[in-house]
Amino acid sequence: MSDSLDLAAFPADFTWGTATSAYQIEGAVAEDGRAPSIWDTFSHTPGKIDNDDHGDVACDHYHRWPEDIALMKRLGADAYRLSVAWPRVVPGGDGPVNAAGLDFYDRLVDGLLDAGITPNVTLYHWDLPQALQDRGGWTARETAEHLAEYASVVAGRLGDRVTQWATLNEPLCSGWIGHLEGRMAPGLTDLTAAVHASYHLLLAHGLATRAIRAAAPGAQIGLVTNHSTIEAASTRPEDLAAATRMDGHTNRWWLDPVYGRGFPADMRELYGVELPERPGDLDTIAAPLDWHGLNYYFPATVTDDPQGPVPYAREVRLPDVPRTGMDWQIDAGGLEALLLRLTDDYGVRKLYVTENGSAFPDAVSPDGEVHDPDRARYLEQHVGACARAVRKGAPLAGYYAWSLLDNFEWAYGYDKRFGLVHVDYATQARTVKTSGRRYADIIRAHRQSHA
Ligand code: FCB
Repeated sequence: MSDSLDLAAFPADFTWGTATSAYQIEGAVAEDGRAPSIWDTFSHTPGKIDNDDHGDVACDHYHRWPEDIALMKRLGADAYRLSVAWPRVVPGGDGPVNAAGLDFYDRLVDGLLDAGITPNVTLYHWDLPQALQDRGGWTARETAEHLAEYASVVAGRLGDRVTQWATLNEPLCSGWIGHLEGRMAPGLTDLTAAVHASYHLLLAHGLATRAIRAAAPGAQIGLVTNHSTIEAASTRPEDLAAATRMDGHTNRWWLDPVYGRGFPADMRELYGVELPERPGDLDTIAAPLDWHGLNYYFPATVTDDPQGPVPYAREVRLPDVPRTGMDWQIDAGGLEALLLRLTDDYGVRKLYVTENGSAFPDAVSPDGEVHDPDRARYLEQHVGACARAVRKGAPLAGYYAWSLLDNFEWAYGYDKRFGLVHVDYATQARTVKTSGRRYADIIRAHRQSHA
């Protein structure tokens, strides 16, 4: 099937990678000086996670990373997007650096480079040290400053070998899902806290960008944000206005300030929360970037919901559309549209798809294989959307499939499997799925198209 993909659209040096994050795969939560993060606290709070799952062991990647690098090699991937666990490196959030924590990432980076795989390192993928949460977490401005200090420690140690850096992963999830909807750590449902957290997250991004540049000259720095295309459920003016609000909440709030437009006025008015602004912050937040990382999973169709929660727009569930095991609508066109929006509206000059993938209920068959045609199809459709965006001018430099491995899917625990590689959590056995082999074929075919 990859023959029908327009792989020649991608430049010869296009990056093909896989992505994971620390808390979702590492386990070893109490080893070598790591302290708890807000996700340890949240996942050990009864009722927060399906099956009361937690990341104590996860994929045991902390011990099995050489095997996992070998899997990446089998897929033929050029790059690997990983995150560093802040609570391993600076367990108290600020203060003393834990050498053993840094050593782990040092070994991992060397292992990747030895295998010919380029590391792309995200500094913050949601695992805030609990010690900082106890002092206000993202509602406190100091947390942003501490992220920058931690960023400078990591970039200082790895920056001689790592050139690709991302500050934050999906600040929308930390801000809105963690502080407004309460479905992710720290589990708050407080609009003022959420707006302040969103502000400090973006400030942290800007401060960390500056810190990485100082510690690692030559670093290529990006921000990773997640977005959805937003459709109105009807042409009623109320629904069109609801779609504008949802677009502000999901997309513009996170992009406008980063690209020098400040926080959108309509959303500031809608939230009605004073921002904890200080002079110079907006310039810090809009620090020039080398690339932007888009995480894309699904589109949204919304209707007006005046009595509902902010932003008074409710998602409607379209009947008869294809969906993944997360119940997320499958729409590769949304990926193409968002890549073009970042290019045309925001003037982004280098883009990566830093995450894209699908969960389906897989199992190892009696033949020892994991047959997952739905995931393979999702992958092909979305790679196809990337190719179309490139043909239309999007400066897309790479695609990272989420995820290398089945892993701890946050509030959904281990039941939702996103991996190209299946993990048997009882034995930690890894099995490359059909989709993993399909990905390897795509990578190979792309190389041949330029040979
Ligand atoms: C994204 C997260 C990632 C993973 C995927 C499915 O929102 O960044 O960690 O959970 O969703």
